[in-house]
Order: sequence, then C-alpha cells, then structure tokens
Amino acid sequence: LWTVDDLTDLSTSYSHFTQAANLLRENEVVAFPTETVYGLGANACSDEAVQKIYEAKGRPSDNPLIVHIASVSTLDKIVKDVPEYAYKLISEFWPGPLTLILPKKGDELSTLVTAGLDTVGVRMPDHPLALALIREADVPVAAPSANKSGKPSPTHASHVYHDLHGKISGILDGGATGVGVESTVLDCTSAVPTILRPGGVTKGQLEAVIGEVTIDQALIEEGHAPKAPGMKYTHYAPNAPVVIVDGTINFLQKLIEQHQREGKKVGVLTTFENVAQLHAHKVIACGSRADLQTVAAQLYDVLRKFDESDVDLILSESFPQVGVGEAIMNRLLKAAGNQVIVEGN
Ligand code: TXA
Ligand code: MG
Repeated sequence: LWTVDDLTDLSTSYSHFTQAANLLRENEVVAFPTETVYGLGANACSDEAVQKIYEAKGRPSDNPLIVHIASVSTLDKIVKDVPEYAYKLISEFWPGPLTLILPKKGDELSTLVTAGLDTVGVRMPDHPLALALIREADVPVAAPSANKSGKPSPTHASHVYHDLHGKISGILDGGATGVGVESTVLDCTSAVPTILRPGGVTKGQLEAVIGEVTIDQALIEEGHAPKAPGMKYTHYAPNAPVVIVDGTINFLQKLIEQHQREGKKVGVLTTFENVAQLHAHKVIACGSRADLQTVAAQLYDVLRKFDESDVDLILSESFPQVGVGEAIMNRLLKAAGNQVIVEGN
C-alpha cells in the first residue's frame, strides 16, 4: 500500500507511482484511484498481465475490460472508425467518467481485454494519480473496478485492501474517489450512440453536446440481453438482501417495524434529510437528496458498511432517475435484484 497524501504535488510521491508503474511494466497488477472508483490495472498488451486481473477478481472471462489511456494519441493506435460525435464527446468530457466503445484496431491489445469482441472500451480517467501512473508505465492500462467480482466497487483504498489483499502486487492510495459510481459506457459503433451503462456523465450532458443518444433497451425493460456483458451479472450486492422502498418515510418506518416484529435486524439506507425520522437496527445516511452527487459519492461505502454490521435485511430509499440518479438507481436495483416495494401497491 503506497499512500499519496498530496494529490496537487505528485513530485513528493514520485517513488510511489514509479514503483507502481514498474510493476505494471513487469506485467503485475496494481490498484489505483480514478475519479469514479478504484481500478485494478494491468498492461493491456500482455495476456499474462490481463489474465492476472481476471484471477484476482474472480471475474468471468466473457466480461471485457476498459482500457485506460493518458493521451488521445493512444486512442488512434488501438481503435478505428471513430465517428465525428465521439471526438466531440472526447473534447468535452475527457479526462472524465465516459467510456467509449469503438471498433478495435490492430493486434497490440491482448484479446483477453476485449473478451474476444471486435470492439474495445476506452477512457481517460480524470485523476492526477491515474494519469501519472499510465504516463509513467507508458502502456495502455486495462482496469476493471478493483473489487471482488459481485461486490460493490471500491471508493476507498481500504475497500480494495479488504477484497484483494494478498492477490495483487500493490495499491496506490489516493484517498476517497470523487464521483463514486463508475463511468458511463457509451457504444459509439452506430450513427446514434447507445448508453450501455449509466454513470458519471449523464444522458442529458451527452445530448447537450451531440444531440440524440439512446439507452440500451435492457436497462429499461426486463427480457432483453444487455449489450455490455458486465451488466448481466448481479453486482454491487452487500451480504444481506436489499429491498428498495418507493414511498413516504412513514411507509418506510412501518415496513421496518413489520420486519422487526418478525425478529429481523433491519438496516436502512436513507439520506441526511430523513435520517432523524427513521428507527431501526442500523440507519445510515447516504448523502443528501438535495444533491444526488453526494449520494453517488457515498453509495458503495454505505453498502459495504452494512456488511460490517449484523443486519438481516437492508431497506433503501428510492431516488429520482434524473441526472446521476439514473446511475444510482441502476446500481441500487442491481444490488436489490430488482426488488422494489411501492407504497399503495
Ligand atoms: O469508472 C469505471 O469505468 C471504472 C474505473 C476503474 O475506470 N471501471 C469499471 O470497469 O467500471 P468494469 O470492468 O467494472 O466495468 C466495465 C463495463 C462492464 O460492464 C463491461 O461489460 C463493459 O464495461 N464493457 C467493456 N468493454 C466492452 C465492450 N467492448 N463492449 C461492451 N461492453 C463493454
Ligand atoms: Mg465493476
């Protein structure tokens, strides 16, 4: 574990990220912070290195990885047929939480990165340590979120340590990540791009720059296979089952009491606005409803906190699916296996 205290002056921690970069060049795996969540990085050009990511995470081999780059010039070496709108998005949102899916070019990248697909996801993370690491390693860096497969993504170095210590070569600790939910995954292989995973950049933000953007049908109704392989897995799940409650605070409190009468220890995921009104075994406020960005930033940490308690069931508030609320509800619904109780139904 290498801790970097001053993100504004990396010269003080030069030896940390050069050590990490050397390990990447030696085809070892190293975790590092991005603006969304911590990533588990490996040299994207090496089968040996990329294989270690799948092993450490216990990740299914049919789920492709995102390639992280530090300059747009690297993009043109690994993808082709980049549409005009993609360049507009790049100039607006890179570095930042937007992953572009584009046709793969050449055979430099390990085929394990793309899980055999002819497209590849690429993004430029907006984090000084991530960018310094990629530059120093001087290779494209394949990196999924640095959690054990199926667990909530890590937003603190301690989350990575908890899930993966002993299985990876090191962790660059840059403190808490900012956005808290993963990047938006956007398929750019057709005339109108499609959101495959809602994330840090919202549909509205994309549309303000390039006009029409569609959403993968699988994200809207059940019964469709998602186009991002990773979206088909249960994900983000704490140990106790999660149920989303769409209703008033009184309704939520009644549900809590009902389960408590059955002898259950109930955990509640609520917000700053409502925390004082709710009484249960474990009540945790996850940000403020007035600023959904604060909910996104704390969501995975809160889901993990319930794992440190002895709750049998987690009841969660519901959030409006606007702006970053789309990504929040997408992750919560996955954590809940789509279990929602609507007041009045
Ligand atoms: O914010 C993020 O994107 C973080 C940080 C570390 O950069 N990374 C991340 O990676 O969330 P991961 O592996 O946990 O999620 C990548 C998602 C998966 O759902 C995967 O199936 C999808 O992107 N994906 C990757 N390559 C793809 C491709 N060629 N076509 C379709 N989906 C792809
Ligand atoms: Mg992940």
